[in-house]
This record gives sequence, structure tokens and C-alpha cells, in this order.
Amino acid sequence: MNIEIREETAGDHAGIREVNRLAFEGEEEALLVDRLRAQGLVVASLVAVAEDRVVGHILFSRLPIETPEGAVEAVALAPMAVRPEMQRSGIGSGLVRRGLEVARRRGEAIVIVVGHPGYYPRLGFSAQLAGRLSGPFSGDVFMALELIPGALDGVTGIVRYPEAFGLDEQPAPDRKPA
Ligand SMILES: CC(C)(COP(=O)(O)OP(=O)(O)OC[C@H]1O[C@@H](n2cnc3c(N)ncnc32)[C@H](O)[C@@H]1OP(=O)(O)O)[C@@H](O)C(=O)NCCC(=O)NCCS
Repeated sequence: MNIEIREETAGDHAGIREVNRLAFEGEEEALLVDRLRAQGLVVASLVAVAEDRVVGHILFSRLPIETPEGAVEAVALAPMAVRPEMQRSGIGSGLVRRGLEVARRRGEAIVIVVGHPGYYPRLGFSAQLAGRLSGPFSGDVFMALELIPGALDGVTGIVRYPEAFGLDEQPAPDRKPA
């Protein structure tokens, strides 16, 4: 099947909601996408399309890291969703790779993800790189990637997820990823 990966258009919004509902078996991530879009926090939102239907989606949004020297700009990769019957055929990895390219072209330097430790490292993410960052997540699910090599050198700080994510302000070390 021919899969096209491209940036979202207004005509994709309903399909994006649907793919998130199906993949996550609930409304939460679909609503998160709507909130991030409404609040102007989206850096890149890409869809995978097959036969005119959205079969996958990935979103990158603004995520400042608060440091003693001031804010360091980063982006969050979340959420990402592929229609259940089409998972494990490379669509998710294609979305990540293309999304990282778009973010790099837009001048972004750091990407943070909270996700499966068996999946994201093969796409270049590392929990070790996120080791000096704190936030509502920690451990091997909390990973970072540098789009500009060395962007995280010497960066120690707190990742501040926008309110749209509905996370508590206080760090919760045992929290599991969404
Ligand atoms: C995670 C997700 C987007 C990956 O998309 P995909 O198109 O299936 O990914 P790919 O085909 O590129 O890669 C497949 C790999 O993803 C990993 N993977 C997929 N789902 C996984 C899961 N639930 N748990 C652990 N690893 C998973 C596996 O490592 C798999 O590799 P394998 O087949 O060699 O074991 C998709 O499975 C999905 O929509 N899951 C439900 C929603 C979700 O959990 N989103 C991520 C959190 S934001």
C-alpha cells in the first residue's frame, strides 16, 4: 500500500482525531492535539495517508526547559498514533523520521519524548541524554534527541509541559507514560 507522509491540513483534523481515538482507545490524546493546536503550540503535525484516509499522525509542540540561565527551547514529541490494524509496518518510524527532519529544518535543536524504551532509542532517542532534565516523568521512558549535536551539553533544568498536557506541576518519579 502506498503511504504518503505530509504535514496536516485543516481537512485532516477529523481523521487525526479518529486515528488518535483508535490507537489510544479513548479521547484524551485527540483532545490534547486539539488543545495544542488551539493554543498555537504546534511546531509540526504530520499525517500518514493511505487511500485518502489518515492512518497515522505525529505531533511536535513547544516545550521549554527551565534552567538557571533561562529557558532553553525544546519540542515534545506527543502524541503519535497509527491505526491499530496498520501498526508494526513502519508507519510510526516513518512519521518520527520525517517529523524530526521538519523540526530540524525549522531550527529546533532538542526533542523530548516519553515513550516505549524499546522503540524510541532505535530512532535516535536516549534516556541518558535526558538524564540532567527533570519533569513529570523520569527513568528509561523519558528520552531526548539532539537535532543539533551538543544542544543539550551543559543543560540542566526542568521540562515544563504546557497546561494543555494536563500534568501536575510537581515531579512524579513513578508516573507512567501516556
Ligand atoms: C507506537 C506506535 C505509534 C508505533 O507505530 P508503528 O507504525 O506500529 O511503528 P513501527 O511499525 O514503525 O515500529 C514497530 C515497533 O514499534 C514498537 N511498538 C509498537 N507498539 C508497541 C507497544 N505497544 N509496546 C512496545 N513497543 C511497541 C515495537 O518495538 C515495534 O517493533 P517490532 O515490531 O520490531 O517489535 C503505534 O504502535 C501506536 O499507535 N500505538 C498506540 C499509541 C501509542 O502508544 N503511541 C505512542 C505513545 S505517544
